[in-house]
Parts: sequence; structure tokens; C-alpha cells
Amino acid sequence: MNIIPALLGEHAVIYALLDKIERKKQDWSPDETRLAVVMLASALESHATIEEDLLFKELEPHLGLGSGPLGVMLADHEQIEAILARLALASPEEIEPLATRLIEMTREHFDKEESVLFGLAKEHLAEELLEKLGTLWAQSRSVDIRSVDINTAKGAG
Ligand SMILES: [Fe+2]
Ligand SMILES: [Fe+2]
Repeated sequence: MNIIPALLGEHAVIYALLDKIERKKQDWSPDETRLAVVMLASALESHATIEEDLLFKELEPHLGLGSGPLGVMLADHEQIEAILARLALASPEEIEPLATRLIEMTREHFDKEESVLFGLAKEHLAEELLEKLGTLWAQSRSVDIRSVDINTAKGAG
């Protein structure tokens, strides 16, 4: 299967987490918000690592880095990572504003990927390569796609 819809599906689930934290953080104690952010961080960090190791690596020869779209995406990942690191050490009164910033930045970053970067990936990378990256995505996420992936099923058969 193609890696792009897999990554979009991850965005969808992370959006649900962002919405939940945004709605509830006023009622939660700082420690409860910090714990929710720790759970969010495990999803965000693994998502960014998969994007960088699979998709971005293949796109780099086509798009370069610097101030281009790929460079911007990597800079976003670093900024999100920096906020997560600050949240881990934040005082109770710093947690809520940092969580608000994290939610905003993550939504803005996902929007850039959805509206620009994933389209560039479809434009520059062959369908076969996107399918191969999808198989690697499934392996890294421990998702069994054999029953829905014709290419994998053929390979396995
Ligand atoms: Fe990303
Ligand atoms: Fe993403």
C-alpha cells in the first residue's frame, strides 16, 4: 500500500488527540496535561521519525533541503521536538501555554504536509516506490497489511 494515505491516517488520529487535549486542558491539573502530552509525544515523535527515515529521505534528491519545502518540514519537526523537550521540564504554570503552542504548531505543520509536501511526493516519487515505503511503514508500525496489499500478498505467496 501507498505510504501517503498511511501518513494521512496517522495525522487523523493525532488530530483527535490534539482536539482532546485542547478541550480538556482547562479542566486538567498541570500533571494531567503533562501526562497527556507525554502520550501525544510518543505518537508525534514516531510519526516524524517515519516521515524522515522513509519519505523525506527519498524526496531529498528531488527537493533539496535549505529553505525549500523539505527544509521547512524538518525545521518544523525540530521545533516540535524542542517544545516537547521544554514540556518535559516545564514548571506547572508553563505547561498549559506550552501545550497550546504545541497543538498550534502541530496543526500548522500537518496542514503544510497535507497541502504541499504530500502532493510533491506524489509528483516526484514513482508509485512503486511509494508502495515500497508503505510496506516499510507497515513493518515499522507492526501493522499486518498482507490481506489488503496485493503486492505483498503476491510476494508472500
Ligand atoms: Fe511531519
Ligand atoms: Fe506528518
